Amino acid sequence: MSNKLVFPVPDEFRRGAFGGRKLVETGKQILDLVCETAGIESFDGLDILDYGSGYRMAQVLLEFDMEFASYCGIDIDPEMMGWLQDHNPDPRMDFHLVPFQNELYRPEGEQMTGESQLPVGDNTYDVIMMFSVVTHLAPHDTRALFAILRRYLKPDGFLFFSTFVNPIMEDPYSEGDPDKPLWMSIYQEAFLFDLLDETGWVCEHYAEPVGQMIQHQMLCRPTDDPNPPRPACRPGTPAY
Ligand SMILES: C[S@@+](CC[C@H](N)C(=O)[O-])C[C@H]1O[C@@H](n2cnc3c(N)ncnc32)[C@H](O)[C@@H]1O
Repeated sequence: MSNKLVFPVPDEFRRGAFGGRKLVETGKQILDLVCETAGIESFDGLDILDYGSGYRMAQVLLEFDMEFASYCGIDIDPEMMGWLQDHNPDPRMDFHLVPFQNELYRPEGEQMTGESQLPVGDNTYDVIMMFSVVTHLAPHDTRALFAILRRYLKPDGFLFFSTFVNPIMEDPYSEGDPDKPLWMSIYQEAFLFDLLDETGWVCEHYAEPVGQMIQHQMLCRPTDDPNPPRPACRPGTPAY
């Protein structure tokens, strides 16, 4: 297989340890895991919102010619989102910048609140995904974001996200490296469930990290139940 990707993105926008083919290959495994977890064959006919998108899943969808109805990537990185908007590779895709603050990625941004709007008008989505985003969010932002995203989900849709969870730590939240705020945001399990309860989500699937591919994962759906059930954490899927 050639190393040239269908949708190459300049290296200057790379944020993680690796890019290129390795990034899209793990991305494909993640999207397959999402489908398997949600019990769907593919994203065929589905509208996807990728929050804190970076550029990876856009590359993955195109690289592997995956089926989907529409894909909307949203991020706070002005240069990267500007580049993606200028080089949008597919009419089913769009990319939006949000102005929110993040101490690690955009210290000078605006505070996000549960009432903040996303720049997508009245659009709603079947699938909302967030990979390696809650892993870099302070608790007040995670709570706000859960509340925001709830408004943009179709009634039968689901939210899938990855996060660092520590089931036994005493504090509700801790920094993996106190010298690098938000580099590794670790949530106490009960506190993460509290945030979901408070913002109208029920977690249907909760699983351990899978190798180097993904951290703890949760698949959630909207609920009006103020005390929804909390599933036990399953072992990470061995096939991945
Ligand atoms: C580790 S990267 C993950 C990118 C992508 N989801 C992936 O899996 O390749 C985290 C991304 O979250 C974005 N981000 C952080 N805080 C955000 C916020 N409050 N709103 C939107 N995007 C945010 C960053 O700009 C960055 O692109």
